[in-house]
Amino acid sequence: MNDHDLKAGFRRHAQAALSLNVAYIGVVNGLFSRLHELGGATPGALAAACALDAAYTLRWCEAAFAFEYLDADGEVFRLTPSGEAMRPEAPDSLMPMAVQSVLSAHMAERAAGLMRTGERPGESVLAERATVLPWFGPMLERNFAALFENTICPSVPAFAAVDARGGLAVDLGCGNGWYLRALARRFGRLRGLGVDGFAENVEQARRSADGEGLGRRLQFRRGDVHELTLEEPADLIAMNRALHHVWEKDPDALFAWLRGNLKPGGYVVIWEPAWPRERAALREPGRRAMAFQNLAEHVQGNHFLRPEEIVQAFGKAGMPAPVHLSAAAKAAVGVAPGGGGANRCTQPQANSSSSQRCAGSLNDSATS
Ligand SMILES: C[S@@+](CC[C@H](N)C(=O)[O-])C[C@H]1O[C@@H](n2cnc3c(N)ncnc32)[C@H](O)[C@@H]1O
Repeated sequence: MNDHDLKAGFRRHAQAALSLNVAYIGVVNGLFSRLHELGGATPGALAAACALDAAYTLRWCEAAFAFEYLDADGEVFRLTPSGEAMRPEAPDSLMPMAVQSVLSAHMAERAAGLMRTGERPGESVLAERATVLPWFGPMLERNFAALFENTICPSVPAFAAVDARGGLAVDLGCGNGWYLRALARRFGRLRGLGVDGFAENVEQARRSADGEGLGRRLQFRRGDVHELTLEEPADLIAMNRALHHVWEKDPDALFAWLRGNLKPGGYVVIWEPAWPRERAALREPGRRAMAFQNLAEHVQGNHFLRPEEIVQAFGKAGMPAPVHLSAAAKAAVGVAPGGGGANRCTQPQANSSSSQRCAGSLNDSATS
């Protein structure tokens, strides 16, 4: 590749990033959605409909026109097919890419500065941009709910078993609560408790559950996984892309807590991104984002886990669990039967014993 080709290639990358930045501004201000409803509008009418500043909205319309999210007929702007696809409500919406691009830029800036001192401020970094945090949950829901509903959920018999006894499913690090909502929609008897560190996530989770008429079965509360006390032991404890967020503090204590807070015959179900064994795998297009995220999440005090580490942690806690790879080996899902309700505790408990059996079974599936 000569210098000219190299530059042209990077110019295309830079334009793609700018295009997502323009899209982000439209997504978080409801501009794509409102313009869809209006059919077409002048910038002034669009600004009024979205309760936004008219001068900013005019400039956004021009930028969105430049990147072909909008077409123009005189002063009236309409969505193009890519503009339609950016609507958060659109089937298979492109919204997560726009949110991810701005979140990534924010995390890159923080990592760039913090690398000089080694400081790791923690989860709060996510809340430093007022417009980003409210879109964090919806972004994850759009990215992962379909994979969960279509592939993971039907492959994990533990969910139906918990439902059959009207059991309690606890989701640690629940984000906007989409996982418990998906379970509650599918299974009519199970109850859910979601816990998350961000009040914004918990409020969204409550609102969405109420909106779907699931509010009586699903509860959400703000809390720290490391200091959590449950009012009743759980039939199932789920951690969905949340384990690596709470791993570094003390994995042994965490897994002992999981085991100690299960009812007899309860389950722990963990879904995590799977960090590859070989560095060369990071060059695969589908894993590059994971390599960036692992760098960015260092700021938050996290790192991605190899599936073997999760297997070991289950085993050490006396809950041997197979961990299955799914989504082209980018996701690891472990299901452990917990056993010992007598072991319920809020403090780490290392050597409890109970009979174990293998509960979960997942077929490998290739999803992007
Ligand atoms: C990658 S997100 C996953 C959210 C959700 N489970 C999902 O699948 O969309 C990780 C979540 O863990 C939460 N979290 C991180 N550390 C936590 C802690 N110590 N206590 C409670 N929640 C925590 C974050 O607020 C965030 O919502």
